Amino acid sequence: MTGRSRRVRTFALPPALLVLLLLVPVAVLAMGQFGSDEDVIGYNTATPTDPVAQLQQQIDSGQVHLAFDPAHGYLPAVLKALHVPISSQGLVFSRTSLQVDHIAPWTPRAVYFNDDVYVGWVQGGPIMEVASVDPKLGGVFYTLDQQPTAHPKFQRQFSTCLQCHDSSSSTGGVPGFIMRSVFADKMGYPISSPVAATTPQTPIAERWGGWYVTGTTGDQPHLGNLMAPVSAHDVGDPAAYLAKMRIGPNLNVTDLSSRFDTSPYLSPYSDAVALMVLADQTYVHNLITIAGYETRKAIYDDQLTSMAGDSGGLSEGAMVRIRGAAERLVRGLLYSREAPLTSPITGDSTFTQDFQRLGPRDHLGRSLRDLDLKTRLFKYPLSYLIYSPAFDALPPVVRSYVYTRLRQVLTGQDQDPAFANLSAADRTAILQILQDTKPAFAAVMTTAVAR
Ligand code: HEC
Repeated sequence: MTGRSRRVRTFALPPALLVLLLLVPVAVLAMGQFGSDEDVIGYNTATPTDPVAQLQQQIDSGQVHLAFDPAHGYLPAVLKALHVPISSQGLVFSRTSLQVDHIAPWTPRAVYFNDDVYVGWVQGGPIMEVASVDPKLGGVFYTLDQQPTAHPKFQRQFSTCLQCHDSSSSTGGVPGFIMRSVFADKMGYPISSPVAATTPQTPIAERWGGWYVTGTTGDQPHLGNLMAPVSAHDVGDPAAYLAKMRIGPNLNVTDLSSRFDTSPYLSPYSDAVALMVLADQTYVHNLITIAGYETRKAIYDDQLTSMAGDSGGLSEGAMVRIRGAAERLVRGLLYSREAPLTSPITGDSTFTQDFQRLGPRDHLGRSLRDLDLKTRLFKYPLSYLIYSPAFDALPPVVRSYVYTRLRQVLTGQDQDPAFANLSAADRTAILQILQDTKPAFAAVMTTAVAR
């Protein structure tokens, strides 16, 4: 271990974190099932090509200079260099992540994101936490010292981050991203053990525990802005306690300044729409990583077991594994069984506009990023991560399987109830948008028609 990563570890495990770790069920901390597949994935040895690795090269070559801000350290410069909008800010007050000593309801942690980078910042923290998507490796994790220096260096981190960011319950067992909902006490300590990851299927009523939420969500209840006014050990049965708490004053909060000092943050908001998108994006990112890992492992295992000289296609066993991961991805991409909104949701930062502006748009001006926010999150429910480098880097066998399945669902040939969320009109619109904006998919359609 290098001197630097030892330094990270010493503050990574303050007494408060040890207490937290004891509270977290073992399953959550268990290394993911892919943790030992170094031969196949090369997670620890491959050179990442993710946006942070690219930025580091630009810093090293002098093309990019990161300015150090006295109040926020490298945060503003990093967000700018990586094109992460400030409007994506979400504020977490539960002490559920790494720098627990710096997180509390009066000093929440700020999280920012774009399509392939996530940034975590705490007030006065010695490091900034950055995670980004490598097309082949999935989530890769870095720290950046919050000390002014002539040569800022993103330090790649492994077990310090993967102890939480590669777990079967939170990330699906691959190095990935976490969004959860926990009931926390007035100090920010989680009371209930964290429930499963928040996904598009999670009812709004169960979302956002441990997060501040600004914007309007109408009369639908949620757990944002809510903490037990006592200490964790005085709560007793968390579910019973929570059931007695009055849900109402925590809803439709548009100004957080009476709850804590918002002035140290780059934005006063923890935008409801950004938090909706964050839950979906972290979920789909992890599914893409799982599909890539599972496919590469299946191919590798086939090669190990097949007789020398036995060329040809993959074994049925390998295809079963690949199809299994691909089906989960297809359902994730198409927002299968998405929890319905019962009231419209609005944000109050400029996230809604910033996000939709990115496109791409089809010849009728429609985009997969168009938000509905009335009965569901997206107008055309197919994840925009289909445009991501990680999706394009999936092994061809699984990528073409996903395209075939998308074609079957979007043309209406597949009427599986899993896709009941998609009307005939939805399917047609999504199909047209994809054909206009994703050439590789348009090619699949042309071949299918020609056949
Ligand atoms: C003790 C568990 C734990 C450790 C260790 C940990 N994280 Fe996290 N991290 C979380 C949780 C839980 C979240 C979800 C938001 C929250 O609760 O703060 C999260 C969220 C994040 C996010 C926002 C994107 C996302 O996944 O939601 C980033 C960026 C991040 N962590 C970076 C890091 C980095 C970098 C490290 C290592 C230096 C690290 N984390 C170590 C638990 C952890």
